[in-house]
Amino acid sequence: MGPVRQLCYVSTANEPASDQHLTEMLGRAKLRNSGAGVTGMLLYVGRNYCQALEGPRAEVRAIFEKIAKDARHRDMHVVLETGGSVRDFPDWSMGFLRGDPATLGLDSAIDLTGVAPSRFERVLGDGGALKSLLKSFYRANH
Ligand SMILES: Cc1cc2nc3c(=O)[nH]c(=O)nc-3n(C[C@H](O)[C@H](O)[C@H](O)COP(=O)(O)O)c2cc1C
Repeated sequence: MGPVRQLCYVSTANEPASDQHLTEMLGRAKLRNSGAGVTGMLLYVGRNYCQALEGPRAEVRAIFEKIAKDARHRDMHVVLETGGSVRDFPDWSMGFLRGDPATLGLDSAIDLTGVAPSRFERVLGDGGALKSLLKSFYRANH
């Protein structure tokens, strides 16, 4: 296990999230993440969030625990947790993509809309497919 902890989870928004709401939330999130040395990416697809958080173990854990208590979403499932030496989103304090599953335009797009969170793990396998989706968006934007 290297020093970079990476955690990916999926969850469902309690209310459909507006652009304005997401922009405000992300503004604060990016500030806190940069202070903590945490990077990652958030995908909002259908009513679901998919988020990758990476950085020092304690900081990733602390931010994840804040997010887990957030009443704006529910049914959080960690689909991937790894330790390594490389970050996948090194210069993104929190990248963001609001994706229409139909128009994500990625071969590996996964439509979680309508999928019960308890079944996410079955749909996503070990979470590797989800991480590939987030990474392909990162690569496409560099
Ligand atoms: C889907 C989702 C993702 C979030 N991601 C982050 C994040 O990456 N970093 C962060 O600090 N807060 C994030 N938040 C917000 C936290 O849950 C929490 O609201 C925040 O840390 C509280 O501080 P604030 O009121 O100053 O924003 C996220 C919330 C949601 C619903």
